[in-house]
Amino acid sequence: MTGAREQPGADPEARLVAPSRSGARGPEVAAVEQRLVFGEVAEQYDQARPSYPDALFDTVIEHGGLAPGDAALEIGAGTGKATRGFVGRGIAVHALEPSPGMAAVLRGHGIDVEETTFEDWPARPGAFRLVFAAQAWHWVQGADRYEKAASALAPGGTIALFWNQGREWTGDMGADNDAAYAEHAPHLVGGRHFDLDRELDELAAVPSLTGVSKRVITWEQRYSTAEWVTMLGTHSDHRILPEEQRARLHAAVGDVIERHGGFVDFVYDVNCYLATRV
Ligand SMILES: C[S@@+](CC[C@H](N)C(=O)[O-])C[C@H]1O[C@@H](n2cnc3c(N)ncnc32)[C@H](O)[C@@H]1O
Repeated sequence: MTGAREQPGADPEARLVAPSRSGARGPEVAAVEQRLVFGEVAEQYDQARPSYPDALFDTVIEHGGLAPGDAALEIGAGTGKATRGFVGRGIAVHALEPSPGMAAVLRGHGIDVEETTFEDWPARPGAFRLVFAAQAWHWVQGADRYEKAASALAPGGTIALFWNQGREWTGDMGADNDAAYAEHAPHLVGGRHFDLDRELDELAAVPSLTGVSKRVITWEQRYSTAEWVTMLGTHSDHRILPEEQRARLHAAVGDVIERHGGFVDFVYDVNCYLATRV
């Protein structure tokens, strides 16, 4: 089964724009439209999307030698699922988020946010000890995006780009889920896997960064049928389906889960890419 296709797995948001994050990514206008759909379902996103495990935050903080009060820049904060992990550890996060709907939910969590894309953000060279993006860096465009992120770091600062990557469902449940997609959204069958490890090369190519590494942190979350379907509705490749088609697909996926026990134990690997500003 190809669980990653419809899930937070291989980052389905990236799927329809996956051809490249380094310039050759499909029609730019399509990417822009798809990346802005999150605001339509900001509350649902906040409720249904997975967060990140404690070990992820601890790993990044240890890598950066960060202490309470240190300044961090977050790119694409959304509703703050990663923001809160760092803020809760005393890090002073400056959050960037272009979607007004997502930003409103983030503010509701008591976190200030600058409503802008990273591309439009006026750079603040050397201002941060940490620059991070959670499930968001693939939306950032522009050939200079790595250099711009690195330049926001003080010497010795850390850049951390991470994604929850869900493991594929297996067995009969996986096969049944594939059949549901084949019937209701065949273009999503199999998905388009996001080659996250490209980050290793992209980061290594930035002259002002050194010590590129990858950490993988595995964790698991149980979803009820309703929770799973609600989460699917926050994924951009599902959001851009016509409403009736989306409803049929979600009903079919819900039926699959119900037939197989009424819950999903979903395994995530957080893929975290780290580098240090020279
Ligand atoms: C999948 S969500 C991730 C949100 C949050 N970081 C999380 O982990 O749940 C991607 C976020 O990136 C934002 N985004 C899209 N394009 C962006 C850009 N060019 N610069 C900054 N953020 C962007 C979207 O509005 C959305 O909130």
